Amino acid sequence: MSLVHSKINKANANKVPPRWRGEVERVLITQPQLARRIKLMAREIEQDFAGRETVVVALLSGTIMFLADLMRHLNLPLRLDFMGVSSYGAGTESGELVITKELRLDVRGRDVLLVDDILDTGKTLSRVLPMLRALKPRRLKTCVLLNKAARRVEKIKADYVGFEIPDYFVIGYGLDFAERYRQLPFVGVLHPHIYQEPPPKKLK
Ligand code: PRP
Repeated sequence: MSLVHSKINKANANKVPPRWRGEVERVLITQPQLARRIKLMAREIEQDFAGRETVVVALLSGTIMFLADLMRHLNLPLRLDFMGVSSYGAGTESGELVITKELRLDVRGRDVLLVDDILDTGKTLSRVLPMLRALKPRRLKTCVLLNKAARRVEKIKADYVGFEIPDYFVIGYGLDFAERYRQLPFVGVLHPHIYQEPPPKKLK
């Protein structure tokens, strides 16, 4: 575990902005921690993909912030495409997977970097990776910001991982609960009362 990983600790507990204190229990990964780690990930990816045009395939929608920050630091010739994969229903469990947007770029013979925000049960990547492999890319690597190994049910590992995290319900920096909290600039832990209680009527 790198120094960066080990810095996810209780020191962040009191950093939740007042506006979010009712919903966010604590900050798990701060903005500076995200920024530092993502810069390092970009360096690592750059070295591996050097000299080749890379097709970044990002999964909607959780990747938005991570992708934008990672790409800013990737000094490589890039093309970008999105795939939409969603688990039905708003809740803590990954349900049935639905493809909501197909890939448009031709990745045959290309170097492909698949980007996702979190590797949790592994169901999403275990569905998407065979689809991409079937398109015959020259190289296919996976990059995730967060890895929650404790919840894995599929035998999947990512090639690049930003942070190993415990089994907390995390939101922010692109990650949602029922499409909310994606705009938080940090990764936080959601208060259990938020996902244990039904949302108030006006928010439904
Ligand atoms: C989330 C997340 C990953 C996936 C990981 O997607 O963005 O793609 O779950 O979970 P898994 O490893 O258990 O499959 P979600 O379906 O919630 O869609 P979103 O990205 O739009 O939030």
